[in-house]
Amino acid sequence: MITLTVNDTVHELDLDPRTSLLDALRDHLALTGTKKGCDHGQCGACTVLVNGRRINSCLTLAIMHEGDAVTTIEGLGTPEALHPMQASFLDHDGFQCGYCTPGQIVSALGMLDEFRAGWPSHVSESLDGGTELSDEEISERMSGNICRCSAYPNIVHAIRAARD
Ligand code: FES
Repeated sequence: MITLTVNDTVHELDLDPRTSLLDALRDHLALTGTKKGCDHGQCGACTVLVNGRRINSCLTLAIMHEGDAVTTIEGLGTPEALHPMQASFLDHDGFQCGYCTPGQIVSALGMLDEFRAGWPSHVSESLDGGTELSDEEISERMSGNICRCSAYPNIVHAIRAARD
């Protein structure tokens, strides 16, 4: 039995210890907004926040996250209002088929927090090195999230607009 806190709700789960966080979310908690693309850490569709940091949930075991705060796409916004990042993706057509969108949105939020914290510093140093988040840097920092429809320009616009 493990205890997982997801979107501020505590769950007691009887899991095989080999269960990935992604499978725990989707198969045991019915939080299917988090998508399984590659299941190998290469596409970013499974991105969630753990204690505010973005991770590929397919690459980590659920049992490793007892005591952590996990946030999925379902934890953003409210029933009455979208989270501003969700609204910005909608306003800027930041998707086509939509499969990668939950991971893109969650990753964008984690990325902005990383940028504000100045982490990782080598990314800014290799680009403009300034305090502004350029479109080029957004693309670089979001490069772990693949969009097979190639909606990248609008994804970048959506993220920039949500930040501004
Ligand atoms: Fe986890 Fe692709 S499903 S990175």
